[in-house]
Amino acid sequence: MTPFDTIITGGTVVTAADTFQADIGITDGRIAAIGQALTGAAEVIDASGLLVLPGGIDSHVHIAQPSGDGVTMADDFESATRSAAFGGHTTLLPFCLQAKGQSLRDAVTWYHGLADGNCYTDVSFHLIITDPTPQALNQDLPALVEDGYTSVKVFMTYEGMKLTDKEILQTLEAAKTCGALPMVHAENDDAIEFLRDRAADRGEVAPKYHASTRPIPAEREATHRAISLAEIIDVPIMIVHVSNGDAIGEIKAGRARGSTVFAETCPQYLVLTADDLDVTGFDGAKYVCSPPPRDTDSQAACWAGLEQGVFDVFSSDHCPFRYDDSEGKKHPEGLKSFRWVPNGIPGVETSLPILFSEGVGKGRIDLNRFVALTSTNHAKMYGLYPQKGTIAVGSDADIVLWDPTRVEVIRQGILHHGADYTPYEGIEVTGWPIRTILRGQTIVADGELRAEKGVGAYRTRARSGQTRAA
Ligand code: URP
Ligand code: ZN
Ligand code: ZN
Repeated sequence: MTPFDTIITGGTVVTAADTFQADIGITDGRIAAIGQALTGAAEVIDASGLLVLPGGIDSHVHIAQPSGDGVTMADDFESATRSAAFGGHTTLLPFCLQAKGQSLRDAVTWYHGLADGNCYTDVSFHLIITDPTPQALNQDLPALVEDGYTSVKVFMTYEGMKLTDKEILQTLEAAKTCGALPMVHAENDDAIEFLRDRAADRGEVAPKYHASTRPIPAEREATHRAISLAEIIDVPIMIVHVSNGDAIGEIKAGRARGSTVFAETCPQYLVLTADDLDVTGFDGAKYVCSPPPRDTDSQAACWAGLEQGVFDVFSSDHCPFRYDDSEGKKHPEGLKSFRWVPNGIPGVETSLPILFSEGVGKGRIDLNRFVALTSTNHAKMYGLYPQKGTIAVGSDADIVLWDPTRVEVIRQGILHHGADYTPYEGIEVTGWPIRTILRGQTIVADGELRAEKGVGAYRTRARSGQTRAA
């Protein structure tokens, strides 16, 4: 009998803290040894010239989420997790949406029905509360947190999903009581509605008006309000998909007051702008997401936030709709006005190469910060650490072998999601994941799927272990 099932040999191991040459021995899906010249395994993987990174964790993805009448998301759990695995991820945290009138527990049961047995990566669910009834807040939420659903998102915008400030306070209070981490989508919905009405008065219906009717002050104001509401309850808060310097300023100000405010940004705020929506015809719909991509100053502010540690996590906000599809971006109502174009863009397969190439490759962040932003901090934030998010003896052997020199041009044709386009078409990146290993099992290698669906499992989570010095 050999001491290990698998040895990964000759690579450069990178964690959030260190970079070193070592072999990794894997037994029963876990890292059993990290050392020099390990021997004795049924399978030896040569990682010479490659980086050996903890598998990517994307803590902000939407999969098969109900999105309104006649609208269907482009990915189910099979295609989303397959795409994620090709992009170097081993764990995803999608959102489980409570519909109005639905119990939180029923929403979770329904979502498990979609996910269980269909995944290529491990998954764990955040909750979304849209109907904060006493039953949801005082009975279901505490019970679900005990069961390992330890984070909950609320929306300040979107008809049918947004909560009032009072409802947000009630939800934050309930989250504090049971130890769930609240996540907030911060945009001022009344301001957006006002601007949309004015746009409609002027006959402005093209996709580019999605960006101009969701301006930076609407995000800045809501970010300030969300942080203030969290201060009233005295609960930590995560501001998701931050798009610009003004919102970053609010996060810094909240922290300076002593609040525990976590923050996330996404690739669309680093490499896209509102100009991408401002094209002839309907193509701008390919970039309709909220908050919208901004301008080059906002991109620079988000990069500075990544460099300086403002952002704790980097996620894709993968929320895919097909473009050329009446159940997607070209929904009959969406063709009439931007306000009915489904919000969201695909990105789970391209997020890591974009951050690596534009961030590490261009000297903006180092390798260890890349690992922190794309794996370790997600695991700590959402209660999966140290089982996930690092390379350490005893941790799950979730590993991606990364070729830092491989040049790829992002094209729809090379991707594996269910969408029929990528908003990142034509972007050249240097650095690409070439092998993704989930609990010791290779799921993707050399551009090919090497596992059956169902290899990915549902993982319960502990409460967030993350703290942030004020
Ligand atoms: O446009 C986006 N981001 N759609 C996904 C839903 C959300 O707000 O996160
Ligand atoms: Zn959101
Ligand atoms: Zn989202």
